[in-house]
This record gives sequence, C-alpha cells and structure tokens, in this order.
Amino acid sequence: ALSDIRRVLISDLLAPACAEILRSQGGIEVTESPGLSPQELISKIKDYDGLIVRSATKVSSDVLTAGTRLKVVGRAGTGVDNVDVEAATKNGIIVMNTPTGNSISAAELTCGLILSLSRQVPQAASSMKQGKWDRKKYMGSELHGKTLGILGLGRIGKEVATRMQSFQMKTIGYDPIIPPEVTAEFGVQQFPLEEIWGLINDAAFSMCKRGVQVINCARGGIIDEAALLRALESGQCGGAGLDVFTEEPPRDRALVDHPLVISLPHLGASTHEAQNRCGEEIAAQIVDLVKERALVGA
Ligand code: MLT
Repeated sequence: ALSDIRRVLISDLLAPACAEILRSQGGIEVTESPGLSPQELISKIKDYDGLIVRSATKVSSDVLTAGTRLKVVGRAGTGVDNVDVEAATKNGIIVMNTPTGNSISAAELTCGLILSLSRQVPQAASSMKQGKWDRKKYMGSELHGKTLGILGLGRIGKEVATRMQSFQMKTIGYDPIIPPEVTAEFGVQQFPLEEIWGLINDAAFSMCKRGVQVINCARGGIIDEAALLRALESGQCGGAGLDVFTEEPPRDRALVDHPLVISLPHLGASTHEAQNRCGEEIAAQIVDLVKERALVGA
C-alpha cells in the first residue's frame, strides 16, 4: 500500500526538523545522505520507500526506475523541476511539494532586490570596499509613484504586491489563473499579458518605458537572457536583479558580470524560517500519507 512507508532517504541538506518529525510522528527509519552522486543514489534508492529532496538532487527517471520500493518523492520547496514527474507517475510514485513554505522568503528577497536595484546598493557597497567614495555614479530613483508589474499573482506575487504598496508603488500584474476580482482585493489591477509584457523577450522590453528594471526570483527561462543583455546594453533596461538563471550555475557570465545586474545564487528560499517550514511541512505530509490522512501539495 502507498501508506506503507518504513524507510525514507533524505538526499539533500534539509532542516533537522524533517527527519525528527518522520521518526517521532511517523515511526519511519530515516537516512540523511546529502551529496550522493547520481550513481550512488541509483544504487541506494532500492532500499527506500520514500525520498526527500531540496533542489540539488536530480530525481531522474533512472533514479525512479531503480527505486523499486519507492512510493513517494517529497520536494521541500515549491518547484518540482528537479523531479521527473512524468516518470514518477508512470511508476506509480507520488510527488509532493510544499507550496507555501518558501513564499514569504521569496517575496522578501524580491522586495530586497527591488530596493537594491533602485539605489544600486550592492554596487555602491562594493565600490566602498574598493576604497572609493563615488557619490555621483550611484544616483538612484525613488520607488514612490512608480509602477511595479508583477507576472504571477499567486502566493509570492501577492506578498510582493502588498509589501511594495507600502512604498507607494502602483501595483499591476497578470496571472493566468487568479481572477482580477481576487487580485483587486490586494490592490493589484490585472492587464492582459500583451499589455504588460510577454515572457520577457526583445518585444517585451521594447514595449516598456526606457530604463525599465526587471527582477526574477522565480525560474530562469522566464526572462530571455540574451534579450536582457541586449536591453541592458542599449539602455532600454536600466537594471536587473536575478536570483535564478536558465542554467544554474550560469556558465555564461555576461549577465552576472554586467555592472547594472545584481545577481544571487538562487537564494529565494534560503532562510532559516523557510527551510524549517519546508522541512517540517514535507515530513508532516509524509506522516499524513503513512497515517492515511488527506494528502496536500500542488
Ligand atoms: C522553490 O522552488 O521553492 C525554490 O527554488 C526552492 C529552493 O531553493 O529550495
């Protein structure tokens, strides 16, 4: 049965609460082995009923096929892009995520990048460290009265909107699922995607105000990186805050090295609070599975 989960492997570095909850509440035997090579994971996985990961472990179809006892893969985080969900489904393996645990942390980092971009805080701070006192170079602009366009108005987009409204930014946006009446309740007027931007490519940049700034704390891919570089070089884009990249870590360093780009190594979910929450949530969800209670995840 799906609920027959006796041994769970945690193959990424997760908050200790995760293993504790599995052991104490689920009576599950837990092995924590972060940093296994793909081959090591493939050879170990056959002994486990459940696998819990963050983002480093690639749960490929080879891993899923080798996991002949595997019933559940838990992702402590939102995106399941490191799990081959199709292969899991084919093998009858449930994939669970923790869709809420990281929202506040991702939203706070997004707001931090908006503020950092508007005043070039990291660039100015690093010029101070280099012994400079460059007051002319780092002229910024206020957020007050500016328009923030938010693509995606789910949990994270909503938290970003309400926070940035306290800086008197006008918040508009787009979401393919959440209806305009719902987003209006938290002060975001929706526009058709073409009226804001498409996915952020050359055409999208050309439709924006000159000097538009862009932030991506979601997933690489959403911004066409070559188009962003062109827009930065032409001045159409006035700055970018990037926490995520098409390839991670990015081998092409052109954006990272650009003076108007503030880049981070995918840190949106990297807070003690978010990691504890996700670790606890995924463990509790697996305990629910063992106890045959209702299942959560999105
Ligand atoms: C997420 O999808 O929640 C984040 O990318 C997670 C992470 O960094 O673990």
